[in-house]
Amino acid sequence: MRILITAGPTREAIDPVRFLSNRSSGKMGYCLARVAARRGHGVTLVSGPVALRPPEGVTFVPVTSALEMLAAVKRHLPRCDALIMAAAVADWRPRNVSPQKLKKATASRVLCLVPTPDILASLRSKKGRRIFIGFAAETERLLAEAHRKLRDKNLDLIVANDVSRRDAGFEVDTNRVTLVDASGRVQALPLMTKMKVAARILDWLEACGLSARVLQRSAE
Ligand code: C5P
Repeated sequence: MRILITAGPTREAIDPVRFLSNRSSGKMGYCLARVAARRGHGVTLVSGPVALRPPEGVTFVPVTSALEMLAAVKRHLPRCDALIMAAAVADWRPRNVSPQKLKKATASRVLCLVPTPDILASLRSKKGRRIFIGFAAETERLLAEAHRKLRDKNLDLIVANDVSRRDAGFEVDTNRVTLVDASGRVQALPLMTKMKVAARILDWLEACGLSARVLQRSAE
């Protein structure tokens, strides 16, 4: 398969030296890219700024902001069979980016934020037969939020991730996730390394790709 994977945070500029971002390390997305490439898939990795080296054998597309990530995903999606959005895209960006470094003369400052585009939701019309996988990093109502996002973003699978636990989610090498697919199947996985979580997600994707191909053939 040709798999497009996004990873890491995005950075939303405030001025030439400051930005808004989040705690994503990019580890989950990079593990997915590494495992997928090792299994012989064609991998394009669109990554926000992280401290990781791109895995060997992947096409690497570095981006900074949510708008840049959206443009890169739109550019590469037509040649891909599946999209895995593991990136923690910033939800807001400053309305205005100051061309000069802001002075700290005033005691307080109000930043006006505008929403960034939802990359997955904005690709609805371009999905076609492609398989879309998203992540839901939540601190409460994990499964309810995962089901809502699966539906709202027109996904085939969502990887629900409780990020309120120290040993799972942001920055660490382990994760505890629940896979929820569009047919309603819920699979809670125990705490495991992100490499193993990546392998389970790719197992699901490969099985899904295979059955889609079988269905396509039987319809021909
Ligand atoms: O931020 P949220 O919880 O809605 O993220 C759920 C999924 O949507 C993730 O897979 C994330 O990569 C994706 N997302 C996106 N565009 C955004 C925000 C999130 O595609 N602006």
